[in-house]
Amino acid sequence: MRIDIISAVPSLLESPFADSILQRAQTKGLVTVRIHDLRDYTTNKHRKIDDYAFGGGAGMVMTIQPIADCIKQLQSERTYDEIIYMTPDGERLTQTISNQMSSLENIIILCGHYKGVDQRVRDLFITKEITIGDYVLSGGELAAAVLADSIIRLIPGVLNDETSALTDSFQDDLLAPPVYTRPADYEGHKVPDILLSGDPNKVENWRMEQAEKRTKERRPDILKND
Ligand code: ADE
Repeated sequence: MRIDIISAVPSLLESPFADSILQRAQTKGLVTVRIHDLRDYTTNKHRKIDDYAFGGGAGMVMTIQPIADCIKQLQSERTYDEIIYMTPDGERLTQTISNQMSSLENIIILCGHYKGVDQRVRDLFITKEITIGDYVLSGGELAAAVLADSIIRLIPGVLNDETSALTDSFQDDLLAPPVYTRPADYEGHKVPDILLSGDPNKVENWRMEQAEKRTKERRPDILKND
């Protein structure tokens, strides 16, 4: 899979992809992540990528020219399955969306800034608009990193058995159960006996019960009623 991220502040996207699972996924050749600095595409001699909003009002708007030129350049090199715009008024990101996107070949993620992008960018190029939650960030970069992380970890081969995504929260419409590690007794606070029983069936049943209990208590909205 290849992910191209278009950003006005590319330095914000350096560290999320430079360590741990996301870095290993790239080294293993399972994903290619390319960050594109929008200012490299502007024809403005002052490297400007924004302008005042027509009709007035506070806040700058990102201009269409550098975004369009960057997207067209990328599209001349390969075909993209989705061109995604990170924006607070998009569709809310869910595990289902990340699962679907993890099987795509090439995607572009556009990060918004200021008051957002000229509407014509959205009308002409964008195929999907995503928000990571009902709050406003200073820009789309952190949201793009969240989206990319949630997709990349689902690409086959990225996670090993120990980090398997199959036991993640949300993967079966359930939150993950509690987990424990050594010591078995921390100042009198003991690990549940069943986890030390050595009986894999009992452990599995306990985990399922705990996952259901946690989901009922915390997120009844995601429980399937069947
Ligand atoms: N840009 C600013 N806020 C955002 C959010 N919540 N999700 C996606 N992109 C954003």
